[in-house]
Amino acid sequence: MKGVVLAGGLGSRMYPLTKVTNKHLLPVYNEPMIYYPIKILVNAGINDIMIVTGGNNAGEFLKLLGNGAEFGLRHLNYTYQEGEGGIAAALSLAEFFADEGKIVVVLGDNIIEKNVRKAVEAFEKQKDGARIMLKEVPDPKRFGVPVFDGRRIVRVEEKPAEPKSQYAVIGIYMYDRRVFDFIKALKPSERGELEITDVNNFYINEGRMEWDILDGWWSDAGTFESLQYAGNMVAQTGANKT
Ligand code: G1P
Repeated sequence: MKGVVLAGGLGSRMYPLTKVTNKHLLPVYNEPMIYYPIKILVNAGINDIMIVTGGNNAGEFLKLLGNGAEFGLRHLNYTYQEGEGGIAAALSLAEFFADEGKIVVVLGDNIIEKNVRKAVEAFEKQKDGARIMLKEVPDPKRFGVPVFDGRRIVRVEEKPAEPKSQYAVIGIYMYDRRVFDFIKALKPSERGELEITDVNNFYINEGRMEWDILDGWWSDAGTFESLQYAGNMVAQTGANKT
């Protein structure tokens, strides 16, 4: 299976840290943010990886990551997103790379303590459809939040004012080839973006969504608070444990 890291966007929530650089190049404790999602994929056994970047300083990714030798890789693929259009718009640039196969997508600002090898193996065995990962959080309002009927997820609500569960849908998504057809059918949300949550709801509506609970801590690093939290957690416990 192939992997995609989404590392575009303008990082506007983190201005002025992101005035002259890309959010995913900022430090999380002792490594640049982008190292963490790459390691999530490598630790899950995925070594054919594409980085989707964009905005300012896209060239710095090449300088920093090269061919991925630091991660035990022989090659890295890159693509460039012009402007900003949301997570699903960035993912659409990976269609050619995916080449009709299944993919694991990681948001460039997601940091985890352990690994997702078991979930990725389960998805490999899954005939088709998608798979998301959930984590219980104190502040679900900030994220995509699953709504349950028993054990079944009936929909995901993006940043709901009144969350219907205590879980966040974390930024590690597994999709079959149909993801690119679903993205083409999306309409921009109120924040003007093509939302990954709407992609997930397509799969849910078709009864083709599986889910797992993530083991160990998880943080995004997309706000000042969560960046600091992620850095502290990495310093305390380490990340990407195999
Ligand atoms: C995005 C997704 C959200 C998900 C989160 C995980 O939010 O839209 O559903 O829970 O990533 O990091 P954003 O970072 O765009 O606010």
